[in-house]
Amino acid sequence: MGGSSKHHTETDYQAASVTAAPDGIHPENDIPGISNMRRSIFQIQTRIVVSRVDIAQIQQRPVVTFLENQHLIATKRIGELEMKGKTVLVTGANGGLGLFVTQAFLDAGATVAGTSRKIQSSDFKNAAFAAIAADISTPEGAKGLLDQVIARFGRIDVLAHTVGAFTGGQSIADTDDATFRKMFDVNFNSAFYLLRAVIPGMRKTGNGRIVAIGSRAAMDPGAGVGAYSASKAALVSLIRTVAAENKDAGMTANVILPGTIDTPANRRAIPNADVSKWVKPANIASLVVWLAGEAGRDVNGAVIPVYGKDV
Ligand SMILES: NC(=O)c1ccc[n+]([C@@H]2O[C@H](COP(=O)([O-])OP(=O)(O)OC[C@H]3O[C@@H](n4cnc5c(N)ncnc54)[C@H](OP(=O)(O)O)[C@@H]3O)[C@@H](O)[C@H]2O)c1
Repeated sequence: MGGSSKHHTETDYQAASVTAAPDGIHPENDIPGISNMRRSIFQIQTRIVVSRVDIAQIQQRPVVTFLENQHLIATKRIGELEMKGKTVLVTGANGGLGLFVTQAFLDAGATVAGTSRKIQSSDFKNAAFAAIAADISTPEGAKGLLDQVIARFGRIDVLAHTVGAFTGGQSIADTDDATFRKMFDVNFNSAFYLLRAVIPGMRKTGNGRIVAIGSRAAMDPGAGVGAYSASKAALVSLIRTVAAENKDAGMTANVILPGTIDTPANRRAIPNADVSKWVKPANIASLVVWLAGEAGRDVNGAVIPVYGKDV
């Protein structure tokens, strides 16, 4: 099968790839993830021809070029299609961070069920996005959400849990019951209700992924944010327990601890801050997708600080 010619039909590529890709690359040996990529490519459109894997890009991330009637219609980095065929549930999908996480999974080719109390289909103009509104701070809300996602998509491969809320300004001695309860309902109980509903089905997939968003405050509690910090610390413990309990089923569960994130809400709240020290939401989103992808399979039970320049 042609080792030097540049253009091939899809059939050529499939046949060639048994031993070598069209340009003579041996994908299984040389390019991690190429097998998944190839499977993804062939699900896209039968009339599109996969031209070649660009060797020049291999030092960074390989690129696949899509040609139609020999005209370039798209190039995709391998990782960009890594989530093709996966169903991802993103909680807090319309939040400052959740918007980026959702978009990153869509860019990676996933089908995304995005949830929050006020989520709308119009939040993402993408056919692979489905908005399912739910309040997950109650057991019924979380279970109802899960039932809807499963009824619609049949499975959940990845749970990216970004839902959270912040309250500060009260010492522990001054913290009222409502504030304490709200912090635990939104930051901790929501995760517990959701995980309890998600895990049994996810275990059956053989490679389920859970990524939760905690906070630096879980590790570095400060004065006046006790309820928030404690709820996020409890989340860390919960996720690490889930990691330990489900590694036998090929699952991973990890928690990311952001420092201050560069969101519109934070810019409004702290107008004179040095935002260059803040964490870019797109970078957290990339990490979430990486943890959910093939390369993240060996990272389990990790508590990952992402503090930006404010270390
Ligand atoms: N922003 C930061 O600087 C920072 C720093 C460290 C950690 N974090 C953590 O990072 C995550 C994202 O932060 P963010 O700034 O993006 O927050 P955000 O903009 O306030 O977004 C929170 C999201 O959660 C949803 N939500 C809240 N309560 C809910 C409930 N009961 N049921 C379902 N959805 C609910 C909100 O949507 P609806 O209102 O439509 O429900 C929204 O989508 C949070 O876990 C936060 O604690 C943030």
